[in-house]
Amino acid sequence: MTYSPTDADLKSPYGPLAFFLDLHPDLGDFRTDVIEGLSLPQKGLSPKYFYDEPGSKLFNRITGLEEYYPTRTERALFLEHADAITAAIGEGAAVFEYGSGSSEKIEWLVRGLKDPVAYVAMDISKDHLIESASALAERLDLPVAAICADFHAPVPPPAPHLPDARRWLGFFPGSTIGNMAPTAAARFLDNAADTLGASAKLLIGVDLEKDKAVLEAAYDDAEGVTAAFNLNLLRRMRRELDAELALEDFEHLAFYNEAEARIEMHLRARRDTAIVLGERRFNFAAGETLHTENSHKYTLERFNALIAPTPWRVEAAWTDARGWYAACLLSNS
Ligand code: SAH
Ligand code: AVI
Repeated sequence: MTYSPTDADLKSPYGPLAFFLDLHPDLGDFRTDVIEGLSLPQKGLSPKYFYDEPGSKLFNRITGLEEYYPTRTERALFLEHADAITAAIGEGAAVFEYGSGSSEKIEWLVRGLKDPVAYVAMDISKDHLIESASALAERLDLPVAAICADFHAPVPPPAPHLPDARRWLGFFPGSTIGNMAPTAAARFLDNAADTLGASAKLLIGVDLEKDKAVLEAAYDDAEGVTAAFNLNLLRRMRRELDAELALEDFEHLAFYNEAEARIEMHLRARRDTAIVLGERRFNFAAGETLHTENSHKYTLERFNALIAPTPWRVEAAWTDARGWYAACLLSNS
C-alpha cells in the first residue's frame, strides 16, 4: 500500500472524530454508471447507489421490519455468543468496520472487547458516516475515526495514524458481503487482508440459505419500505441527474433466484416507458426491468469454498438455532 495521507487530509472539522479521511469514492460517476447500466441488454445498476441520505434512512427502517430477519437474528447471535466472540478476537484489537452505516452493531460487541484501541468506521455514504461515527464517538470511551471510501477498491491501512493499533479486527456485519458477486467478494477479501495486515481477524456476517417464502418476504415487506428503498434510486436519478422519468411507471420486484442462491431486486416497468438523461433516451418495454441488487445467500460449505483462494480461514463460526444466519471469525495467520 503506497497511499500515505497528509496531515491536511486528516485534519477534520468533525470534532469528536480522531480523524476523518475522505478518499473521494467515485460517486461522481453516478451519471456515467447510470448511462452504462441503462445501455446493457439487461439494464442494471450497482447497489452502492442506494445509500444517499434518504436511502440510508430507508435502510435503517428496513432493519427494524418484522419481515427483515437478518438484523434481529445477527443481533441475537452476537449477544448470545458475545463472550466467546470477544474472547476469540483477543485483546488490544483496533476495529475497522466495512460499510458501517449507522455504526450501531459495533456497540453490541465493543464493551466486551478486552482493551480495544480504536474503532474506524468506513462507508461510501459520507454525510451519514460522519453523523453516525461522530455520535458513536460521543458514546464510546475509545478513539473513533472515519474513512469515506469504496470497499470494492483497495483501502489503505490507517495504522500510521493510530500508533497503538497493533492488530486489526475487520468487522463486516449485516451480510453486506452477500451484495457482491462471489468473484467480487473474493477480491474484497484479498483487499481486506492487505488493508488489515498480518495477524488480522475478520468478523463477518453471512446470511444463510433458507425457505424461499421467508427470503422473499424479507425483501418485499408489507409496509413497502423495501419498495421505497428500491424506488429511491429513481428519485435519486431525478434529484442528482435531472433524469426525466415517471415514478409511477415502475414497481419494486424481489424474488429468490434458486439457481444462483440469491435474492434479486429489480425495478420493473409497469407499461412502455423511458428514462431520459439529457440527450439520451432509454426505453423500457412493459415488464422490462432494471436490476438493482443481488443478495447472495450461502451455506457454510459454500462460504468456505468462497474464501478458500483468499488468505482467510474460518477460525470459528456461530449460527442461530434455526440456522438462518452465521457470524464467522476469519483469521489470516
Ligand atoms: N453495517 C450496517 C449497514 C449495512 S447497509 C448493518 O449491518 O446494518 C450497507 C452499508 O454499506 C451502507 O451503509 C452503505 O452505505 C455501505 N456501502 C454500500 N456499498 C458500499 C461500497 N461500495 N463501499 C463502501 N460502503 C458501501
Ligand atoms: C446491506 N444489505 C446486506 C442488505 C441486504 O439484505 O442485501 C440490503 C437490502 N436490500 C434490500 N433490503 C436490504
